[in-house]
Amino acid sequence: MNKQSIILGIETSCDETAAAVVKNGTEILSNVVTSQIDIHKQFGGVVPEVASRHHVEQVTVVIETAIKEAEVGWDEIDAIAVTQGPGLVGALLIGINAAKALAFAKNKPLIAVHHIAGHIYANRLEQSFEFPLLALIVSGGHTELVVMKDHGEYELIGETLDDAAGEAFDKVARVLDLPYPGGPEIDHLSKKGEASIDFPRSWLEEGSYDFSFSGLKSAVINYVHNVNQRGDKLCKEDIAASFQASVVEVLTEKTYQAALEYNVKQAIVAGGVAANNGLRTAIFDKFSSTNISVHIPRLELCTDNAAMIAAAGAILYEKKQFASWDLNGRPSLLLT
Ligand code: KG4
Ligand code: ZN
Repeated sequence: MNKQSIILGIETSCDETAAAVVKNGTEILSNVVTSQIDIHKQFGGVVPEVASRHHVEQVTVVIETAIKEAEVGWDEIDAIAVTQGPGLVGALLIGINAAKALAFAKNKPLIAVHHIAGHIYANRLEQSFEFPLLALIVSGGHTELVVMKDHGEYELIGETLDDAAGEAFDKVARVLDLPYPGGPEIDHLSKKGEASIDFPRSWLEEGSYDFSFSGLKSAVINYVHNVNQRGDKLCKEDIAASFQASVVEVLTEKTYQAALEYNVKQAIVAGGVAANNGLRTAIFDKFSSTNISVHIPRLELCTDNAAMIAAAGAILYEKKQFASWDLNGRPSLLLT
């Protein structure tokens, strides 16, 4: 990237209110995230109305803090990037309206960022990209394999046909009476258990890079019901380890096969489930015998944050792809 840029990023698509300042799409000057997880925990998942209300309360102070911590003046900020979608519409609108108001008041260009592009570009805050590149995006709402031949160009080659990987973690955790969000809980329990239960792997048809996790989720639910009906004791550790092994094997194998078929130079993983220890280890192991470089961001860049939105926004800034004042939240926005 040639053009110098300092971008303010804003992210409010789900349950994190976040703002960050990023230089040249690669250097984090500040990265402020307030999570609502503790609030949503009591409901066992994200309640959209509650999320919106907390974004309203937090967004201004989070943006002010991000600017203060970055030690930049408004005159140094080149543009404001905000998540346009996908996500909860009410939550998205809080960030979008804050971004619009600031862009208008401070006379800055407005940039609309796809949330998944943000997750992908979280990697570039640590590692430069080599094309062609393969990205596995695994979050609470998404499971996608995307090939990129250049910056800002996305080709979707596979996606989930039903539940997202993170959603499967969260639903299985609920069956095991574990708190929300379930991914970190299952990850933690897995370390203490054995992957001794033979849960199914959903490969779909030969050569397909699509995913399906609902059958696995049903298999775990049936297993738990059977054990309970027999009056036996549930070994949550083994269930967690066996479930995680199934998800990790399918994600890793499909990513590997796609990386070979598309002859990529680099494979990256993004999204909340990229924080999973089993997945991180399996991906690095699988690619260790290849020349393909692998990158997975540090944990705080895997889950939702605004530095990733500013990083993806920097590419659009360079291309001068600015949003207009009628920018709206798009809950089902496609990655194009
Ligand atoms: O990317 P993210 O923060 O929000 C979305 O855009 O969805 O992802 C949240 C998802 C949740 O489903 C959560 O359970 C999962 O990421 N997650 C994990 C781990 N940490 C977070 N899943 C498995 N293992 C983890 N360590
Ligand atoms: Zn996300």
